[in-house]
Amino acid sequence: MTHVDRSIEVILAGQHDSGAYVACPTFPTYRYAWLRDGAWCAYALGLYDKWDSAGRFHRFAARCVLDHAELFGASRVVEPPTRYTLDGRIEDPGDEPWPNFQLDGYGTWLWALAEHARTGHPPTGTELDAARLVARYLRENGAASCYDCWEEYGDRRHTATLGSVIAGLTGAAELLSDEDSAIAAAGLRELLGEHVRDGSFVKHDATDGVDASLLWLSTPLRVVPADEPVMVRTAQRIADELTGPTGGVFRYRGDTYYGGGEWVLSTAWLGWYHAETGDMETARARLRWVEEAFTEADELPEQTVDYPQDTEMVVPWVAKWGPVATPLLWSHAMHLVLAAAIPD
Ligand code: BGC
Repeated sequence: MTHVDRSIEVILAGQHDSGAYVACPTFPTYRYAWLRDGAWCAYALGLYDKWDSAGRFHRFAARCVLDHAELFGASRVVEPPTRYTLDGRIEDPGDEPWPNFQLDGYGTWLWALAEHARTGHPPTGTELDAARLVARYLRENGAASCYDCWEEYGDRRHTATLGSVIAGLTGAAELLSDEDSAIAAAGLRELLGEHVRDGSFVKHDATDGVDASLLWLSTPLRVVPADEPVMVRTAQRIADELTGPTGGVFRYRGDTYYGGGEWVLSTAWLGWYHAETGDMETARARLRWVEEAFTEADELPEQTVDYPQDTEMVVPWVAKWGPVATPLLWSHAMHLVLAAAIPD
């Protein structure tokens, strides 16, 4: 079986009857369905014509929103969650507080739903009703500070999150023929300028550092063209500052989660950007790194911890939550996306 076939198999096996994709079937803390992870899985499977699976996820996401419609009022009095149980409920794991307010998942879901429609799969009435609620919420709250896609720094405005919200509202404007969402997306675009330092996008509004998730802005969200100087400089900084000792890519400098190793997701995003800008040789090298990260059980982990940034922080995380989450479904999704971007 090829690595690509295996990635498809792992994602399909991780889809619950409800349509939810579990984040990781073997890592107890990740027994939930994140909108972020799921939207990327649906997008990746669409590239391989697995439309039925992608459609089932979108119907699941729409049901989660409509079943909790009271959380999507125009004001941010209550905050919609970033993850749901596999049968669409809201539940917090364990007794420790775990950040659950992250707008990128909702933006990415709307974006993925619009992509699904653009490729000839019109949304159902339920999906449109849910999209309308989410779009209204994002129009009002899209610039609010919230936890980032790594569930950290809840008091900041994150650049990748802003990009996801802009792309989501742009998608909603198309799906719903909704001028208000297009206007809101244009307004949020203006804010992106506040997230540039020295010609490069930065992780959030109060840092000079970069984060691999900044690559989403161009690939695939198309908020900023891949060849625009600020994007070129951002990608260059990510390659220079975040490439680890084995050629994989860190999430950001200073990451300590499981020691902060090289991540499959980040490496695939950078490879995807290279493919997009025509540097197939570097894209292929990143794909090779990702495929070498497959374990003996033929699964992709969340990260590799052979060369962590902070060696002292591996053991405490393993003691707390067990070995690194494997297989991580959205690692497999990003492997699929990168493989699709590189011609044979
Ligand atoms: C990551 C999130 C991800 C979740 C499930 C968290 O540790 O920070 O980005 O959505 O795991 O995969």
